[in-house]
Amino acid sequence: MGVKQLHEKNQRKQWVDTVVWWITIVVSSVFSIYTLPFISGKFDIYKFLTINYFMGRIEEAGLHILRNVRLWQVHSVCALGYVVVAPSQFNSKWRNKHLLMHRRLGYVYAFFTVVASITGWMMIKHSELGPVALGLSRIMSPWCIITLVLSINAARRRDLQSHRRWMLRSAAIGYGVVYTRFLPGWISLMFSCKLDIALECSFFIVWGVNLLLLEIYIQMYLTDATKKRATKSIRQQEAKIVT
Ligand code: HEM
Repeated sequence: MGVKQLHEKNQRKQWVDTVVWWITIVVSSVFSIYTLPFISGKFDIYKFLTINYFMGRIEEAGLHILRNVRLWQVHSVCALGYVVVAPSQFNSKWRNKHLLMHRRLGYVYAFFTVVASITGWMMIKHSELGPVALGLSRIMSPWCIITLVLSINAARRRDLQSHRRWMLRSAAIGYGVVYTRFLPGWISLMFSCKLDIALECSFFIVWGVNLLLLEIYIQMYLTDATKKRATKSIRQQEAKIVT
């Protein structure tokens, strides 16, 4: 790859990073508000946000939360903490300027991820979600913690490229959960299907597509092979200029 192509590739990467970061900011802000009724434990508000309510099963709406309200509160507090802390951690300019803060907030972020994943796992048996969403949650909950641990281990070894790759994988799972709250409405409108079906599809899409897109991004921009090839070709170009 020539110097010009490398430059274009870097510009493309910056463009992708900026767009994804702003989407994250908007989604995180809206989702922070969404967590509040669950944190406050106000039945009269959160019952309107349940699938049962949207499916017309008004009497049952929110009862599964009311019976386990503490669990929902702890999960939602961690969810709020997660979406507040995450955007700054994934902003490379901010990160490079405030490395110590990035490290400290990293442990706060890890705490929220672990508690959200464990409580999420505990909520599965009380949940009103369908079989696809629950089946995937059973896999994603431990995978979210495993990728986080691998990422922290890499950071401690000062292998920052690997740290970044594993952290992005963990965040793709966490943010996947967030996107499942936005997508069903659109799917239901576009394909005129019921909301519970749309929710099942959205879990499949966000975890399938999100993780796939991330792997493509990692292969294109964050792998050693790509970097090595690029560095080698810069050296070759430089050698040509000198001779
Ligand atoms: C991968 C780990 C996670 C699992 C397995 C999980 C699982 C669940 C389950 C089963 C529910 C109950 C849904 C129902 O009402 O039936 C739930 C609710 C919730 N989750 Fe998670 N979750 C995880 C991570 C997260 C993360 C990372 C966030 C946010 C950043 C989050 C935010 C919420 C919120 C706000 C609720 C309560 C409101 C609602 O039901 O929509 N979760 N989660």
